[in-house]
Amino acid sequence: MKIITDLPASDLKGKRVVVRADFNVPIGQDGEVAEAFRLKQGWSTIQYLKERGAKVIVLSHIGRKPEETLAPVGRALKHIGQAVYVPDLLGPAARGAVQSIKDGEVLLLENVRSDARETENDESLAKELASYGELFVNDAFAAAHRAHASTVGIAKFLPSYAGLLVRDEVLQLEAALSPQSPSFAILGGAKFETKAPLIKSLLQNYDHLFITGALANDVFKARGLPVGRSLISKELPSEDILKHPGFIAPVDVTAERSDGQARVKEPEDVEADDKIVDIGPDSLALIAPYIEKANFILWNGPTGLYEDGYTSWTHAIAVLVAKAHARGASVVIGGGDTIAAIEGSGIKQSDLGFLSTGGGAMLEYLMKGTLPAIEVLG
Ligand code: 3PG
Repeated sequence: MKIITDLPASDLKGKRVVVRADFNVPIGQDGEVAEAFRLKQGWSTIQYLKERGAKVIVLSHIGRKPEETLAPVGRALKHIGQAVYVPDLLGPAARGAVQSIKDGEVLLLENVRSDARETENDESLAKELASYGELFVNDAFAAAHRAHASTVGIAKFLPSYAGLLVRDEVLQLEAALSPQSPSFAILGGAKFETKAPLIKSLLQNYDHLFITGALANDVFKARGLPVGRSLISKELPSEDILKHPGFIAPVDVTAERSDGQARVKEPEDVEADDKIVDIGPDSLALIAPYIEKANFILWNGPTGLYEDGYTSWTHAIAVLVAKAHARGASVVIGGGDTIAAIEGSGIKQSDLGFLSTGGGAMLEYLMKGTLPAIEVLG
């Protein structure tokens, strides 16, 4: 993989550089950016190029609908660095802005998904976007699993490099593919059918794997335990997973009744009216020694329905993980929902280890060891 730091500063000065960032961030009820983590992480590459006198043209997607706009991102970036938001992706206004950009300036063009050709990886769009620059830098790790015009197609038309964030993400996730023992992985989320290959590879590469979140409901169901109204996947874990010596599942749950009352129970005691919304204290006690001894911890997915306020056990794990990191354990945490759920634990993000900006991209990288948009970077 070629990295932008491979080029001497003299090759960047005055050059138009198209940077694909992933500024796909949540927007709050007030229409403003609700979580700026990806913006902060993505700014380093832009700053690096700015400082070397490049003319930086930033592309990103936001959401999945063409009408979604990067305008709130443009406003939020004002608190991070200086970028001019252009409300067009193509056409005379966008082209004019690209042509009049000065050395060290940054433009943020409109949502690349405003053009339907983006997700089709259409060559004509890739060519048009490439015409904005003389170099292409892909720093959108979180979108690197998408073979789209601005992530994969464009690399055919410009000399292409990884940005600093992509470099760091790949380095960290590479280490997560062959972790130093004792190693411990925590995997939450839903849709067992999409996670089965990852679970199998984590069981191979990690000494122990703790399954949590809605995936744990699938484990209970596969074991013939009652799950009440809990979210269940289309597919359930097979025996080879359930019986694997490194496999760990929660031993207690927080169950919410339809009247909103929640209490901690053993999985056997879940009733028809219960919905499993989190783990419980015995599960935390079960995994604490693994975290305490681990040299490498990988964590993707909160333990509970954090959007409904069930964050206390995720916070408790975050405290243990921060302690492990402080004594020198390597920690890689990913998934926007994991990071959102940890927020409020009072722990500084920098005390937790490496926080990946990738959700789906992180999981796919861990499954395949590469991603389409990384492959095209030579
Ligand atoms: C993400 O949030 O995981 C990335 O920005 C990719 O977004 P997508 O799932 O809409 O392609």
